[in-house]
Amino acid sequence: MNAGLQVQDAMGRTFRSLRLSLLSYCNLGCVYCVSGKSQDIPASNHATLPYYRLVDLIESMQQVLPLHKIRLTGGEPTLYKELIPLVSLLQERIGLPISMTTNGTQLKSLLPDLKAAGLHSINISLDAMSEQVYQKISRRKGLAEILTAIEMAGSLGMEVKLNTVVLKGYNDAELIALVEFARSNNMAIRFLELMRMGHLYSRDFETYFVSQHEILSMLSSRYSLVPALRKPSATASYWNLEEGGQIGIIANESEPFCSDCDRLRLDSYGNIYGCLSSDEAIAVHDFITPAALAERLQQALQQKQSYGFVGSTLSMLKIGG
Ligand code: 5AD
Repeated sequence: MNAGLQVQDAMGRTFRSLRLSLLSYCNLGCVYCVSGKSQDIPASNHATLPYYRLVDLIESMQQVLPLHKIRLTGGEPTLYKELIPLVSLLQERIGLPISMTTNGTQLKSLLPDLKAAGLHSINISLDAMSEQVYQKISRRKGLAEILTAIEMAGSLGMEVKLNTVVLKGYNDAELIALVEFARSNNMAIRFLELMRMGHLYSRDFETYFVSQHEILSMLSSRYSLVPALRKPSATASYWNLEEGGQIGIIANESEPFCSDCDRLRLDSYGNIYGCLSSDEAIAVHDFITPAALAERLQQALQQKQSYGFVGSTLSMLKIGG
């Protein structure tokens, strides 16, 4: 890192964790991401950068940022054609732990190659334990395939976390079944409070929203929860279950974690975003000097909120989790 080009804000925040959004397309139609009407996500008229240019860009960022991990997101990153070569090249050139957030639908056949290419850990979305609820949320079929992929990832020795977005009237009756599945596979499961993003920015948010408090009270009916210490910059707070296992809650709305947020998002068009609350893209795709790159990163850092997420018209589909 070039210490002369430090990127830091008045709250002492910098970017340590990079999320690379590989594409803004997904094969599911989850109710929290898309409203079900066409034209939810306007297509970009820019060309995406080739995967090796993305790696060049990340290498340049490493010169001015104390990056310590990279997460691949989407849209759905497993639909990215060059996923395996990208992971291999990141592993070879960047040398940081690489993780990925996925909906799990394409995972089964990719797992051996992903592991061989150096993928370190996977967060898999699991919003339901029954096919019926899965279909209601994702507007697609195929939960069994995802459950198999999750078990396979665990047996290959990969670090796996499960992510559940809790939605009132959809999956709030499945939380215990989800925890039981996670426990039986020795995996942590995290429940996500719904975020005011995309079509939920202007309406319907309250209809679906379930708070951390409500999630904890549902889980307390079955388990004894012992709070665990929150790691700095972590999105989730964790509880150990006296019955064995661990659950996390990402309470973006009830307990925002902006004050020590260290996440930076880069999309495949070469735009950076300093905060999920900001839909203002900052272009870094042109070849720029380390000083100019540091200046744009500093600009992205200014997008971070001080106290809490204020919502965004961008959907996770566009920028990733
Ligand atoms: N609120 C909370 N979580 C969301 N995700 C997508 N959209 C939202 C939203 N509006 C989740 C996905 C996945 C992760 C990337 O973010 O289900 O677990």
